[in-house]
Amino acid sequence: GAFYRFPLVEVRGVPLMSLIAQNWSSIWAFCPDPSDLLIATYPKAGTTWVQEIVDLLLHSGDAEICRRAPTPVRIPFLEITSPHPVPSGLDFIKAMKPPRFIKTHLPIQLVPEGFWENKCKVIYVARNAKDNMVSYYHFDQMNLTQPDPGPWEEYVQKFMKGTLSWGSWYDHVKGYWKEREKRNILYLFYEDMKENPRREILRIMQYLDLSLSDDIIDKIINLTSFQVMKDNPMANYSTIPKEVFDFSISPFMRKGEVGDWTNHFTPTQSQMFDEDYARQMADMNIPFRTSI
Ligand code: PPS
Repeated sequence: GAFYRFPLVEVRGVPLMSLIAQNWSSIWAFCPDPSDLLIATYPKAGTTWVQEIVDLLLHSGDAEICRRAPTPVRIPFLEITSPHPVPSGLDFIKAMKPPRFIKTHLPIQLVPEGFWENKCKVIYVARNAKDNMVSYYHFDQMNLTQPDPGPWEEYVQKFMKGTLSWGSWYDHVKGYWKEREKRNILYLFYEDMKENPRREILRIMQYLDLSLSDDIIDKIINLTSFQVMKDNPMANYSTIPKEVFDFSISPFMRKGEVGDWTNHFTPTQSQMFDEDYARQMADMNIPFRTSI
């Protein structure tokens, strides 16, 4: 299993899995069609959830069509490259006809410039730092392609320093937030989606210039609920081989809650984290909520 744990290599100061760094020139050179849509997130912020919502919106809530293939085949992962066991992004994207939906975890400055030149739509999802980190910690344990997370205490330090795969959460959420108006980015929060999925699904629908009936929206709310997606083999990553995602450590669809951080942080850790957070986020007021 440990064979897969790729080391991190910096690309313009951002630590990325070596296989991404090695293929960087072709990722950077990728030019999308103006009709393509980018779904951008820091890892574990709610990517798969929004991928499922968007696919269902585009297909008018047709559950069967949206079970045509696993998530990373329906909505390719831009920077993922062979020998990673998740289907290689660029190969899949190039084999599809626009309009295509594309997933990325790249921070905004590493998103290929063609997305901005072609004024592609971009949906960004952000999740509060503590829950995002907890989710990433469990994922790094079970995903044998990612670096070993090590003990929790050290993981918190790595998160704060920005040395995890795909870099700093702070820079990531701030980078997209700063540009959201100028570049017409739809900036969503995981906590808002949990609080009122209908409201957020309608925002996505409008952003995509779609108009669907209330019945179809009801259906999409249900099909993208945590439990239904957890039971859907085309949305829960169970098609990834067990030697790669060790589901005995954690399922991909783990808890899907707001506030699970309270089960992981000691009061001292939480206070130390909050103090550092205030420093790192002082230059931008992004309305995150750690509970709802
Ligand atoms: S990845 O690997 O970056 O694409 O992961 P990502 O999809 O961004 O994040 C996975 C976390 O999102 C939770 N999730 C959901 N929560 C609520 N509702 C729905 N429908 C849903 N789908 C996925 C998933 O459970 C992971 O969070 P945790 O906290 O670990 O459970």
